[in-house]
Amino acid sequence: MAIGIFDSGVGGLTVFREVEKEFPNTNIFYLGDTARVPYGNKSKETIIRYSIECATYLKNFNIDVLIIACNTASSYALDVIKNYLDIPIVIGVIEPGVNTALKYTKNRKIGVIGTLATIRSNSYKTSLLQKDENLEIYQKPCPLFVPLVEEGMIDNKIAEVVIKEYLDDLVKKGIDTLILGCTHYPLLKKTIKKIYPSLQIVDSSKATALYLKKLFIDKKEDRLRHIYITDENQNFIKLKNLVIGKDIPVEKLELSKLCSL
Ligand code: DGL
Repeated sequence: MAIGIFDSGVGGLTVFREVEKEFPNTNIFYLGDTARVPYGNKSKETIIRYSIECATYLKNFNIDVLIIACNTASSYALDVIKNYLDIPIVIGVIEPGVNTALKYTKNRKIGVIGTLATIRSNSYKTSLLQKDENLEIYQKPCPLFVPLVEEGMIDNKIAEVVIKEYLDDLVKKGIDTLILGCTHYPLLKKTIKKIYPSLQIVDSSKATALYLKKLFIDKKEDRLRHIYITDENQNFIKLKNLVIGKDIPVEKLELSKLCSL
């Protein structure tokens, strides 16, 4: 019994952290595709290909659950992976985030931020409107947030300026709820909240772990934890230590192992 989680890089560790809290005994395998990050500015075809390769690699660990922690990959590859790979439970991060936003919003005005590819896909917007056609949705790609987080600039003046530059417009539209539609953004949550204290912020990583609790029960297992990356990356190690601590080592995987699957 195991849970597999993949992301384009380090951001999905925010999902890993929340999943670990809810499933402390289950074996968890994480793959961060650091050799090919970012996915957020790639084409649909490339995002789907990379996602299938990551999922296929994790399938080797006999996973019962696959979490597509990357919003960009969830936006484009969820259905393909569900249909073509035989994994009992496959979930992405979009639906859990959408459900939480619908619980939070009072004025039905919701902001969605994410990578260029996620916003271009309209994945959040479509899913939100399917559940409530009277919502007002305001979307915005925030491409600078990813490098900011990767540089560890999550609560300094530069972070504040960039946050205001991207979000002032959305807030002026009157949104009461903001979906952080990218794995990296939860690391900016405190700073966003400091600037816009009345905004309800949806952190998809927490929402996803709670969503999985309805589908899967924590198993008494060996509590194995493995974190694989496809290329060495000092930022990954730094952020991993920040997000989940130093206990779990990072193992380097040859990218060719993924591509030959
Ligand atoms: N993991 C991506 C996401 O959640 C962000 C980083 C990237 O562009 O690959 O959309």
